[in-house]
Amino acid sequence: MQLNNKRVLLTGATGGIGQALSLRLAEAGCHLILVGRHQEMLTQLIQQLPSTGDYLSIQADIGKPEGIMTLHEACLQFKEEGIDIDVVINNAGCNRFDYLKQRDTGSIEQEIAVNLTAPILISKHALTWLTPTGIIVNMGSTFSAIGYPGYATYCATKSGLHRFTEAMQRELQGTEQQLLFIAPRATDTALNDQRVTALNKVLGNHTDSPQFVAQQVIKTLQSEKKMRWLGWPEKLFVRINQLFPSLVSRSIAKQNVAIHESLSTDSNQKLTIERKV
Ligand SMILES: NC(=O)c1ccc[n+]([C@@H]2O[C@H](COP(=O)([O-])OP(=O)(O)OC[C@H]3O[C@@H](n4cnc5c(N)ncnc54)[C@H](OP(=O)(O)O)[C@@H]3O)[C@@H](O)[C@H]2O)c1
Repeated sequence: MQLNNKRVLLTGATGGIGQALSLRLAEAGCHLILVGRHQEMLTQLIQQLPSTGDYLSIQADIGKPEGIMTLHEACLQFKEEGIDIDVVINNAGCNRFDYLKQRDTGSIEQEIAVNLTAPILISKHALTWLTPTGIIVNMGSTFSAIGYPGYATYCATKSGLHRFTEAMQRELQGTEQQLLFIAPRATDTALNDQRVTALNKVLGNHTDSPQFVAQQVIKTLQSEKKMRWLGWPEKLFVRINQLFPSLVSRSIAKQNVAIHESLSTDSNQKLTIERKV
């Protein structure tokens, strides 16, 4: 897709990747509809974007059915006003690094609602107001393909989103609307608390910048590549996990001491884990 003059709806716009992506899309000549829970943050973000574009916002908590309906109705209204939407990027997401038995059920339900239910419902509604050649991009994760301790719910939601995208790509064959999927590896945003950042360092996991991920989303849209896994060696582990999951289980088992130490620490506490893997 050629991006100049296209209108993009972006959820999670005020987050780390969302802000970087808003800027890159605006620089590529896109007009934006930015979605987030806090109007003040959306307004501030719009003020930082180049004055060449046209920017709208929708304040909605897409983790709740009312929020999804607010978004849907706003998009129907835009359509009535002659504002075409060419791209939807389901970028909003949340997680909590913790053992499943320690999690409260509310936070689990919230994670499923934001990461999986919301992109499915937004995609369903978008098929009614997206342009006939429109694209929906779903933001996955390396954990879409690799189950990882402490992230069971997140892995479930992100792998669900991967399969959903695959099924929809097949369902829409023969039409000009399409769904794409991009799976970043660890990225330097507030999604990862200090324990996760420290653990990634100890384990030698590379962390990308949100600007790099934003650039890759732009490339994905331009090339219309259906599935993209970012990062090396992460994309290799994704393949190995499909073919030889026990190899990946063995490798993760060696990380369990560090993971346990990280999960035993208060998420607000700054920590340094000694190298134990
Ligand atoms: N950071 C990583 O390591 C990493 C790696 C792979 C994939 N990803 C994926 O990349 C996407 C963006 O994550 P990020 O790293 O930019 O995280 P982030 O900085 O924490 O931003 C998350 C965004 O999601 C929004 N959000 C969360 N719950 C919401 C709700 N109920 N309703 C509406 N919006 C909600 C937040 O909006 P508010 O401003 O309203 O809070 C925020 O804008 C996510 O899908 C994440 O899973 C991230």
